[in-house]
Amino acid sequence: MVTEEELITQLNKSCLPRHVAIIMDGNGRWALARGLERIFGHQAGMESLREVVKLCVELGIQVLTVYAFSTENWKRSRLEVDFLMGLLIKYLYQEIDELCANKVKIKILGNFEKFTTEVQAAINMAIEKSQSNNGLNFNIALNYGGRFEIVEATKVMAQKVASGRLAIEEINEVLFADHLYTAGQPDPDLLIRPAGDFRVSNFLLWQIAYTEFWFTEVKWPDFRRIHFLQALIDFQNRERRFGG
Ligand code: IPE
Ligand code: IPE
Ligand code: MG
Repeated sequence: MVTEEELITQLNKSCLPRHVAIIMDGNGRWALARGLERIFGHQAGMESLREVVKLCVELGIQVLTVYAFSTENWKRSRLEVDFLMGLLIKYLYQEIDELCANKVKIKILGNFEKFTTEVQAAINMAIEKSQSNNGLNFNIALNYGGRFEIVEATKVMAQKVASGRLAIEEINEVLFADHLYTAGQPDPDLLIRPAGDFRVSNFLLWQIAYTEFWFTEVKWPDFRRIHFLQALIDFQNRERRFGG
């Protein structure tokens, strides 16, 4: 198997993606394959997240977005949802100091008003503590849905039109993008989906118009630095044409 050192030498550090997005998938199947309950997969996946965030910091990547909980994930059992929320709280309190030491700035993509006060407190703590950091922009998509995001942006613009603060003629792609959670950030250059499914699952629908996709059979709890590096190298060997 190829080593991390070999991959690093293949990587062109002067043309890294500015924004990498990851659908952290396959936790449940990872656990079930080991005869464990699904929640153990979520727990194991936290180590993958730590590694990837650290690597993005080391490489100087501008934006990392991870899909942690979708608007559709409320369909899961109460036990699983509660466990995921507990993990989020634990992650934020445990990691915030190291994240801040690495100048990581946390942003939440999604409507987290629906979460318990405990979850909201952890999120607000992380946002506040990291707000003046100027390193990696770390977006955590929580209760996130691409369609919801687009509908919400549309409502805000419609309100502005109704109250005379915006003219219909002023609505264009740039203005629309400014009303999304990712306002001010570059679109993802690379989207990684582990665990073998080839779908988008309502993630960043607007933003992925020209994103390069990278899929692997490896499930998220087994996803390591070498997989991320492999994705970056494959990305660098692609020709992006943007319709030209
Ligand atoms: C991804 O893993 C984590 C979340 C959706 C929160 P899954 O829980 O979807 O794992 P699989 O896809 O069922 O294996
Ligand atoms: C996408 O994975 C959501 C997250 C990783 C948070 P899902 O497991 O929810 O997606 P589907 O159901 O396989 O499309
Ligand atoms: Mg899944």
